[in-house]
Amino acid sequence: MKIKEEKKVAKEERKVDIKTSPLKLKKFSEVWFLPPIRDIIKEDDRGDLAEIFHANSKMTPYSEQSVGIKVVEMVNDITVERRTSQPYKDYGMSIPSYPLIPKEKLNNPQADLFDIIARRRTIRQYSDKKLTLEDISRLLYYTYGISGNVQLALGTIEDLRVISSGGGLYPLEVYLLVLNVEELPKGIYHYNVRKHSLELIKKGFEVNEILPHLPGLIAYQTRTVSLFVALSTIFRRTTHKYGPRGYRYICFEAGTFMGHLQLIAEALDLGSVQVAGYYDEVLNNLLGLDGVDEATLNICALGYKKEQPAAKDAGGY
Ligand SMILES: Cc1cc2nc3c(=O)[nH]c(=O)nc-3n(C[C@H](O)[C@H](O)[C@H](O)COP(=O)(O)O)c2cc1C
Repeated sequence: MKIKEEKKVAKEERKVDIKTSPLKLKKFSEVWFLPPIRDIIKEDDRGDLAEIFHANSKMTPYSEQSVGIKVVEMVNDITVERRTSQPYKDYGMSIPSYPLIPKEKLNNPQADLFDIIARRRTIRQYSDKKLTLEDISRLLYYTYGISGNVQLALGTIEDLRVISSGGGLYPLEVYLLVLNVEELPKGIYHYNVRKHSLELIKKGFEVNEILPHLPGLIAYQTRTVSLFVALSTIFRRTTHKYGPRGYRYICFEAGTFMGHLQLIAEALDLGSVQVAGYYDEVLNNLLGLDGVDEATLNICALGYKKEQPAAKDAGGY
């Protein structure tokens, strides 16, 4: 009880009143600015590595030349063209595969895009209603499914996806951690994009195999999660062309993916939360990834919304 009280007092003390806080405005050329964050949070240097990476992955006329040379090499080499236009991971016939419902057979609910964007919110508590295979088919098709194609310079036909991708190289792979879904046994699945199917890479899965490894989430809030969508990248698909700057493109694409996922979820009355606060190696191991050639980038929890949402769904990380 005493600890609880002390924690409450400490929390109150941490609150900053913007009117009385010691932030001093600086005058620069007749305009007043807040001091840079760096001047306020002095003792924490963890951002430095990010700054070094950012500086080293800037595009300059010189670096642009080397990308240009790579592009010329690529468009003149039929083997490279064919290989890079096939960014698909396929676990083959040795494991069970579950077909998803094709786009043509999905009878989608009517939804107004502007309304969905305006009302989307992060939701961390879900009902225990089972997620339908139809909604999983929608979530996956409308985030990373194939929606067209294009003919490349040497004649190869390359599939295009629902979201845009730097160089059309599609470096992401999608996995599902299935807990409470109609017609799908609990387990870990890989989304086979070309076949629009789910490959069962690990049979059986319990929420406690992942929740303790998500420090970004308060466990009690997400106990009823139906599904986690985990996103990984095969770095080389993008970095072989763009070098270190390609890492930025991969992260942009992961953001686009998650943005789409959360909007589609909203349209289907599903709540969702992106959980960047997870232990990388635990998730890599669960998915059977080496964490070097292919590594996870983010994970998102989903479940149908509760009819009576909890008064407090706080816990932003
Ligand atoms: C890249 C990213 C990482 C996030 N990581 C976490 C997380 O680890 N835990 C969490 O509870 N929320 C996480 N969130 C959700 C944010 O806390 C949430 O989006 C933010 O508070 C704004 O609220 P809104 O999404 O309802 O607009 C993340 C969001 C993004 C975009």
